[in-house]
Amino acid sequence: MAVDHAALVAMLDRLKLTAIRDQLDTLLDEAARSEMNLREALAFLTGREIARRDERRIGMASKIAQFPFVRELEGFDFDAQPSLDPRQLRELAACRWIAHGDTVLFLGPPGTGKTHLAVALGREAIRQNYSVQFVTAATLVAMLAKAHGDVVLDKQLTILSRPKLLIIDELGYLPFEANAAHLFFQLVSRRYERGSILITSNRSVGEWGSVFGDPVVATAILDRLLHHSTVITVCGDSYRLREKRRSGLLQKAGSALEPTETTAQ
Ligand SMILES: Nc1ncnc2c1ncn2[C@@H]1O[C@H](COP(=O)(O)OP(=O)(O)OP(=O)(O)O)[C@@H](O)[C@H]1O
Ligand SMILES: [Mg+2]
Repeated sequence: MAVDHAALVAMLDRLKLTAIRDQLDTLLDEAARSEMNLREALAFLTGREIARRDERRIGMASKIAQFPFVRELEGFDFDAQPSLDPRQLRELAACRWIAHGDTVLFLGPPGTGKTHLAVALGREAIRQNYSVQFVTAATLVAMLAKAHGDVVLDKQLTILSRPKLLIIDELGYLPFEANAAHLFFQLVSRRYERGSILITSNRSVGEWGSVFGDPVVATAILDRLLHHSTVITVCGDSYRLREKRRSGLLQKAGSALEPTETTAQ
């Protein structure tokens, strides 16, 4: 049976099999070269189509998630961060905690990889078809405060409850304004046992009372967050500054931001 190339392209087009359509000749050549039978060739072609769709879907969902950068778990140097258990992170990457609506907290000092791991887990969640939104704590509180002022808080809370995973980065770096604890509480209680929250913070949970400026509300927030949670405490020196430390520009841990005598001269 003679098949007209243009007619075949038109059929693939109609079925929206664009990956096969765009590379039709190359794919058919490859199938012929590898001497695939019909079943193998069909699996090969549909596999390419699915791979393209997954790639597009992940790209689009990552854009929507608004990650600050692209990071993967494979790019994380566990030797440089012995306080972390790679098995525990791989377990989290399986995303069962997201299926259950649980919470993950990454706590630790600056530059220890908290945001890297949060983004890596977020991307893994997207790969597994969960919706993800990344936001800094400061932006989140500003959004809630604005919505509160505009009398659309409920709508904003509904929007923020949609993603299956909400990543809240940098809790504790900037002081919260007076009403922030109440707004944050409403968000946490709206998402409680429905959607997962991942929080990174430079403060231990014991300090959250002062972070929120209201120990009573902070306790209520923590009560919900910690109910079904994994708390991972990261320690050590900043990865950002390790090259500088190596070159002797900075002193060892604890005084990482103080220049050494050599550089101060
Ligand atoms: N163990 C590591 N292996 C590879 N890269 C790392 C590691 N730790 C940190 N990094 C890299 O160092 C940079 C800083 O890490 P990251 O932003 O995750 O730190 P952080 O703990 O979120 O710090 P901060 O509290 O200041 O926000 C990033 O580019 C990250 O990819
Ligand atoms: Mg960070």
